[in-house]
Amino acid sequence: MNCAACHAIAHVGESPLRIAPPFRTLDERSPVENLAEALSEGIITGHPTMPEFRLDVAQINDFIAYLT
Ligand code: HEC
Repeated sequence: MNCAACHAIAHVGESPLRIAPPFRTLDERSPVENLAEALSEGIITGHPTMPEFRLDVAQINDFIAYLT
């Protein structure tokens, strides 16, 4: 709902926003476990087009489970 406007969320295909990494590739950038901390503190990327999101614990667990 919040992410797919920019990130590809399927097993194939480009991201709608080409510079946004497809979610299936996030584990190539860093271990997904490291993302949990970033997501709970409010993930801020180096790219200004991605708004700051702050996920609650249940959302983080769901997201990490989805990635792994
Ligand atoms: C408006 C577009 C946009 C939306 C919406 C968006 N992102 Fe992103 N996201 C980006 C872009 C662009 C990058 C690449 C940033 C970079 O490489 O510096 C990115 C990078 C990321 C990364 C990688 C960060 C890193 O340091 O490697 C994660 C994780 C991520 N987004 C998660 C999410 C999640 C979770 C959501 C939904 C809650 C979301 N994004 C919504 C545009 C977006």
